Amino acid sequence: MYTIIDGKKVSSDIKLEIAEEVKKIREKGGKIPHLAAVLVGTDGGSETYVAHKVRACEEVGFKSTLVRFDANVAEVELLNKVEDLNNDPDIDGFIVQLPLPDHISEDKVTEAIDPSKDVDGFHPVNLGRMVIGLPSFVSATPFGIMELLKRYNIEISGKSCVVIGRSNIVGRPVSILMSKKGIDATVTVVHSRTKDIAKVTSQADIIIAAMGIPGFVKADMVKEGAVIIDVGTTRVKSDKTKSGWKLRGDVDFDEVAPKCSYITPVPGGVGPMTIVSLLQNTLMAGKMKNS
Ligand code: GUN
Repeated sequence: MYTIIDGKKVSSDIKLEIAEEVKKIREKGGKIPHLAAVLVGTDGGSETYVAHKVRACEEVGFKSTLVRFDANVAEVELLNKVEDLNNDPDIDGFIVQLPLPDHISEDKVTEAIDPSKDVDGFHPVNLGRMVIGLPSFVSATPFGIMELLKRYNIEISGKSCVVIGRSNIVGRPVSILMSKKGIDATVTVVHSRTKDIAKVTSQADIIIAAMGIPGFVKADMVKEGAVIIDVGTTRVKSDKTKSGWKLRGDVDFDEVAPKCSYITPVPGGVGPMTIVSLLQNTLMAGKMKNS
């Protein structure tokens, strides 16, 4: 029998814990954490993500500010806004929702964010600090994955972990976190140029699938009793939903689940954790700034 890792439940537990902390801050007359989100354009996915982030702030009692720009905003105007937010003492942390339109450099914008307010953990300073094991903001998805493994008491030390995908926001950072001192997995990263992915994944105690190909991981790629973390969230057409699409993970759940010990579903696994990670980072940013 396998256990479904319930990201919805864990994320709502963490939200309650954060709300409790906010209550204590309020009772002591402290500063309420304040997150700002910058949204450029009206991409459907980005609109939804940012709306969820703002709603989550309300749920835990944070202040939130949404800053909107037209898709044709000049890069310099966006950079000026970033500078304003860097200098605004009421803002504890902020994010600029990605992707940005082609005429704006995501790297330039990310690097303009004050690392102490970079609650997305995308700034090279935060990534660098994370790599050498210093306190840092860890980006939402890797942070959420580590939290799920921790809360389900999944043994990691000495286990083999295969990460599929090497993106800057998931695969690469989670591979570093899994191998760091104190976590101690033996990590292999596989990617589009890997010769025989199935040969590698079928040895793994833990698989973290984060390459964005729906249903890529099949039963024959998985060892009996493995732990499966599915980070995929591809929108695929569906005639069963009102929106006309549904989310599909990188793992063929129906095939793979019976073979494993733990598995995250899509939706309801890693996804809900990403938003609470952002809240956890914002709470930490506030504490650091106001202590
Ligand atoms: N786009 C997709 N995921 C994210 C995220 O975690 N943060 C930001 N800023 N943009 C994203």
